[in-house]
Amino acid sequence: AIELKTLLGSTGMVTLDPGFGNTAACRSEITYIDGDAGILRYRGYPIEQLAEGATFAEVCHLLVHGELPTPEQLDELTARLRDNAAIPAGLRDLIAAFPVEAHPMASLSGAVNMLAAFHADACDPADPAQVDEATIRLLAQLPTVAAQIHRRATGQDVVEPDPSLGYVENFLNMTFGPTEGGVDPLLVRAMDLLFILHADHELNCSTATVRVVGSSQADLFASIAAGVNALSGPLHGGANQAVLEMLEGIQRVDGDVDSFIKKVKDRESKTRLMGFGHRVYKNFDPRSKQIKKLAQQILSRQEGEDRLFELALQLEEHALSDQYFVDRKLYPNVDFYTGLIYRAMGFPTNMFTVLFAIGRLPGWIAHWRELRNDPAARIARPRQLYVGPKERAYPGRS
Ligand code: ACO
Repeated sequence: AIELKTLLGSTGMVTLDPGFGNTAACRSEITYIDGDAGILRYRGYPIEQLAEGATFAEVCHLLVHGELPTPEQLDELTARLRDNAAIPAGLRDLIAAFPVEAHPMASLSGAVNMLAAFHADACDPADPAQVDEATIRLLAQLPTVAAQIHRRATGQDVVEPDPSLGYVENFLNMTFGPTEGGVDPLLVRAMDLLFILHADHELNCSTATVRVVGSSQADLFASIAAGVNALSGPLHGGANQAVLEMLEGIQRVDGDVDSFIKKVKDRESKTRLMGFGHRVYKNFDPRSKQIKKLAQQILSRQEGEDRLFELALQLEEHALSDQYFVDRKLYPNVDFYTGLIYRAMGFPTNMFTVLFAIGRLPGWIAHWRELRNDPAARIARPRQLYVGPKERAYPGRS
């Protein structure tokens, strides 16, 4: 339960709301969530319909500009993403110098910060043309940066963007290298769908961070880099990595799901069922339903059963019928099944959160732009309730 105390400050009532569970920080037209009913819509379009019919590029346009693109707008966006996909040579060299053992999210954060240094001509937040350039360069280059981070971490040569390939196809090609017959279309569609499902989720921790940083009039690159850092934590985007590690841990102890659930329910153990629970959803996360279907589709192509997927299904079944989870309305969230799909595609576990970042990027950009155009926006500056010592006299030195 949230402790809610009030006091009167010099500017009126101050509420104490740890984690901002009951505090709205802005009005927004981007994403609608009804957490009790399990509804998610981008700009009014139900996520299920977008998942069924749209491409990630269309969703990027929808989130950033408020409307689905016309065919001409989509062609233009596609061309600009393609033409801007190569990253500056200096950044390429920097990524090549990152420690091999660095976590890819640490590398991503560093690289996105460096994008501001390499794109100084697109850093003025007050110039709409520069903001437009920054938007395109970020969307075009984040997958290239991510792929090069992966190549560096796995000791492989860089694969440059291929202008003949689509956005997602190009990303997979740069990550895994060219293969005979090209990138598997099912994997392209799966990745595109996962990006769509991650594209926005109103004021989650990383998006709120992007807005807080943007509220100081920091440029788009700096604000997005902050979002990347917020996303890296295991309670947020880092949960997809944590879920897989949890499943592997359970597998190591002979797949003992009962004992694991017991441990989660024991407060002393401080163990959470990763990939479960959500601040807003108190019902099924509509994204997790789509992702579970996709996991079934991708994993069914593998030979033999996937033991980790079986464990995940068992955990879900146990949790959904267990009073602890029922009472707290804990359901699988977007991250519960994603890791299994990424793993089947060939991504190492520590790259999972980077994939989340590529998907979430248009949402971060849309929120930053909305904030910049909001006449009511002010610098984000929460208050506190001071509970430290009252005034004390410094004893001095004897
Ligand atoms: N496993 C076990 N118990 C849980 C879990 C979980 N995954 N999530 C919440 N609870 C329990 C809490 O212990 C608490 O119990 P209590 O009332 O007896 O003290 C109750 O449910 C409410 O939990 P809070 O932590 O207050 O919920 P909050 O809204 O602050 O946290 C969060 C939401 C961070 C997502 C949480 O559910 C969690 O840690 N989940 C696991 C990590 C995860 O999957 N994160 C990804 C979220 S989705 C995303 O960011 C993309």
